[in-house]
Amino acid sequence: MEISAFWVVGICFLLVDHGVHASHNTNRNLQATYQPYRTAYHFQPPKNWMNDPNGPMYHKGLYHLFYQYNPYGAVWGNITWAHSVSYDLVNWVHIDHAISPSQPSDINGCWSGSTTILPGEKPTILYTGIGTKNRQVQNLAMPKNLSDPLLREWIKSPYNPLMTPIDGIDPDFFRDPTTAWQGPDKIWRVIVGSQINGHGTAILYRSKDFVNWTRSDNPLHSSVKTEMWECPDFFPVGISSTNGVDTSSQDKYTKHVLKASFNHHDYYILGSYMPEKDKFSVETDFMDSTGMDLRYDYGKFYASKTFFDSAMKRRILWGWINESDSESDDIKKGWSGLQSGRLKKSRNYGPRTVSFHAKKLKSGSTIEVPGITASQADVEVSFELLNLEEAELMDPSWTDPQLLCSQKKASVRGKLGPFGLLVFATKDLTEQTAIYFRIFRRKDKYIVLMCSDQSRSSVREGLDKTTYGAFIDMDPRHENITLRSLIDHSIVESFGGEGRACITARVYPKLAIHKQAYLFAFNHGTSHVKISRLNAWTMENAQIVSTKKRRKPHV
Ligand SMILES: *[C@@H]1O[C@H](CO)[C@@H](O)[C@H](O)[C@H]1NC(C)=O
Ligand SMILES: *[C@@H]1O[C@H](CO)[C@@H](O)[C@H](O)[C@H]1NC(C)=O
Ligand SMILES: *[C@@H]1O[C@H](CO)[C@@H](O)[C@H](O)[C@H]1NC(C)=O
Ligand SMILES: *[C@@H]1O[C@H](CO)[C@@H](O)[C@H](O)[C@H]1NC(C)=O
Ligand SMILES: *[C@@H]1O[C@H](CO)[C@@H](O)[C@H](O)[C@H]1NC(C)=O
Repeated sequence: MEISAFWVVGICFLLVDHGVHASHNTNRNLQATYQPYRTAYHFQPPKNWMNDPNGPMYHKGLYHLFYQYNPYGAVWGNITWAHSVSYDLVNWVHIDHAISPSQPSDINGCWSGSTTILPGEKPTILYTGIGTKNRQVQNLAMPKNLSDPLLREWIKSPYNPLMTPIDGIDPDFFRDPTTAWQGPDKIWRVIVGSQINGHGTAILYRSKDFVNWTRSDNPLHSSVKTEMWECPDFFPVGISSTNGVDTSSQDKYTKHVLKASFNHHDYYILGSYMPEKDKFSVETDFMDSTGMDLRYDYGKFYASKTFFDSAMKRRILWGWINESDSESDDIKKGWSGLQSGRLKKSRNYGPRTVSFHAKKLKSGSTIEVPGITASQADVEVSFELLNLEEAELMDPSWTDPQLLCSQKKASVRGKLGPFGLLVFATKDLTEQTAIYFRIFRRKDKYIVLMCSDQSRSSVREGLDKTTYGAFIDMDPRHENITLRSLIDHSIVESFGGEGRACITARVYPKLAIHKQAYLFAFNHGTSHVKISRLNAWTMENAQIVSTKKRRKPHV
């Protein structure tokens, strides 16, 4: 599937510039001393619970990110829209909350939604309100003062709620409106996630004026193989260009992606969308036995949302990265949740970098990658396979990559693999998170398995240490196998095969923190492989500050 390969590359790898500006922030360093798991270059509020990214947008030179937030604690509850702004998607300023519960249509929570920029550069928010009797409805909010460049204050429409759970919609399963798009007939369309008769559904609404919305007789899409769809996303992607396209654009050089969040993952499908009839014809469907079970990420990554960055002609993906520790750990830390912005690399990170070329990684060897801050790094490695014919035979029953990775953990020797990286490792390897590949052969085809093994990530108990896995759609006869890992104190995001498969893991090492964290390349296969190149950079801290008075770091 050529197009899906393109798309996966697009989503994980080609999207954005990751220009981390070197900035020394004593406050954050101090915080890191007490808080080994707080991140240095991933988005986090100063404290408390965060989940879904909401309504990300680019407006008049500024990036906005809203997100689900509990102002009162490190556990889910009292959900409001917090708001942060940035010039570069790396350094952020937290400003006042954009929307908080205040009226009958949202008094029990302001849940997820999206922004749409209406003609005249007028942003609007559509969000789910949890109303009286905990009924889910869709509401509208607009900036109070369009001349305020930060768009600090938002006012709710007097017409709220605009969409209500009537005519067979379950009031518990009606949420997360997408960015709206306009058809050639100038009518706005939006979808809302739902479950109807037990099946995941994208309910379609249309409106001429963005206030009076009429439900379409047919949903945009639904699936008997899934339950509730949360946080749907629907947007075009170019098939002949790597540029992103505006959500309303429509031409023969685009296909449409439909993403839905269920079963703890973000799944997507591709198809052709005809706005005249609002018909979405899919190529493969969700949980299709012939399909490839396409996910944005095969580890921890949920409730994501994209937006079109008109300045850079790119589509940017944000996703909520949940914790893997316990609720009582989160209360102790004083926070829960990270955001992952999927960004393309640029090279001027930190001062310390290391690289090597054409280094043999012998069977059974583990070599240290020295000279960087291994708890806060970006690593790129490319493996050259010397003896492909030595690959183990693939059993046809091995269809579940996650299960295969959990049976063939990093400690299980193989032939061609496991080889890869050990991150957040102690010098003696007591603690280690292994990101690795195994190559299998079936008839004249080769299969590349990518794994992220957290089973030895921490000597601490009570953590979720699930092993994750994905098959990579590539032919190792024609290209070397690349791996890029972004390491940031308690998160490692790994992109295999030029980003065709992504796996994000949360880990909480007890020993491999700060300067005690090391990075290694390893090969536990019986066959030698070669590192054709390896580059590693120390990442600088992003500046993430609050306009409000800073509190002392939580100890
Ligand atoms: C929600 O906020 C109220 C105070 O307004 C607080 O008493 C309550 O504990 C909060 N709930 C959560 C889950 O944070
Ligand atoms: C709107 O924002 C602009 C720019 O910040 C400010 O000068 C103006 O006074 C604001 N208008 C109102 C009515 O608050
Ligand atoms: C809302 O839109 C529908 C369909 O276009 C129309 O029939 C109806 O009259 C509109 N209602 C209002 C209050 O404008
Ligand atoms: C988030 O992580 C916690 C702790 O591992 C888990 O209990 C919870 O189910 C997760 N939530 C989602 C929506 O994945
Ligand atoms: C792997 O990389 C090496 C060094 O860059 C190159 O010579 C070789 O052709 C590559 N192999 C494949 C299959 O692309």
